[in-house]
Amino acid sequence: MASSYSPPNDRILWVALLLATSLMSAYAGNFYDEFDITWGDGRGKVLNNGELLTLSLDQYSGSGFQSKNEYLFGKIDMQLKLVPGNSAGTVTAYYLRSQESAWDEIDFEFLGNLSGDPYILHTNVFTQGKGNREQQFYLWFDPTADFHTYSILWNPRHILFSVDTTPIREFKNSESIGVPFPKNQPLRIHSSLWNADDWATRGGLVKTDWSQAPFTASYRNFSANACVWSSGKSSCSSNSTSTADNGWLTQELDSTGHERIKWVQQNYMIYNYCTDSKRFPQGLPPECSSSTSS
Ligand SMILES: *[C@@H]1O[C@H](CO)[C@@H](O)[C@H](O)[C@H]1NC(C)=O
Ligand SMILES: *[C@@H]1O[C@H](CO)[C@@H](O)[C@H](O)[C@H]1NC(C)=O
Repeated sequence: MASSYSPPNDRILWVALLLATSLMSAYAGNFYDEFDITWGDGRGKVLNNGELLTLSLDQYSGSGFQSKNEYLFGKIDMQLKLVPGNSAGTVTAYYLRSQESAWDEIDFEFLGNLSGDPYILHTNVFTQGKGNREQQFYLWFDPTADFHTYSILWNPRHILFSVDTTPIREFKNSESIGVPFPKNQPLRIHSSLWNADDWATRGGLVKTDWSQAPFTASYRNFSANACVWSSGKSSCSSNSTSTADNGWLTQELDSTGHERIKWVQQNYMIYNYCTDSKRFPQGLPPECSSSTSS
């Protein structure tokens, strides 16, 4: 196509440079740079120049991804939009986990449901390979209608699970009473979408309706204010990291946080291992006597 006006070459170069710079900052921390699709044979996809990631599940396979980095403490936010419609039988897991055989793990799991019936947000904390610390919640919104932010704040004092900045669960460091706390093993971010219709929905009563497949969950706007672990060293021990950036490393739950956790627990909590004395006839786990776990 002929053009009546051709800008000088240096101007084209300048515009191209400017565009490249703005793209770089807009897409910093994108899914191409931060994550690898690990399984699912094409069912996991990075889209929109790395701004969006989708996982899907059909009769033959689910899919999953993991972070390239490992972290030892961090404040990690991700926005998820869960499988809409009839998602019964599906589970979207989003968690941090180490590789050791006595592993540490911090879990968000979203258990799907029939259209209009509520998802369950299932949480758990494993230390040295031992979990059994489930807490489950309904959400105060439809998690399939839009993206919402699910955050894990993990520092040496506690692990805080939050949804759209509302804290829903705190797992305190209770090493002083003999409960191991995840602090020695770097964790990688993992997520997967799979079929769990033997237990996920109403305890396995409702099966996956494969005529609705493929099921798709979406991810965007990942951010990690975190200590990256690499070759046995943490990025946070370098002197270049200012203490201002690391406010989250010493952050504790303030009184507003306590109030909001109480609100969630009173209105939306549906299971708490800390009150399940039938399950622990020998006595509740020791961390349950600390005020905010129960
Ligand atoms: C699904 O809906 C049923 C009926 O409202 C509810 O009992 C259940 O907790 C919901 N969630 C799951 C994952 O089963
Ligand atoms: C993306 O996340 C950041 C912080 O994690 C937040 O400030 C921003 O509003 C989010 N963007 C969107 C589109 O939600």
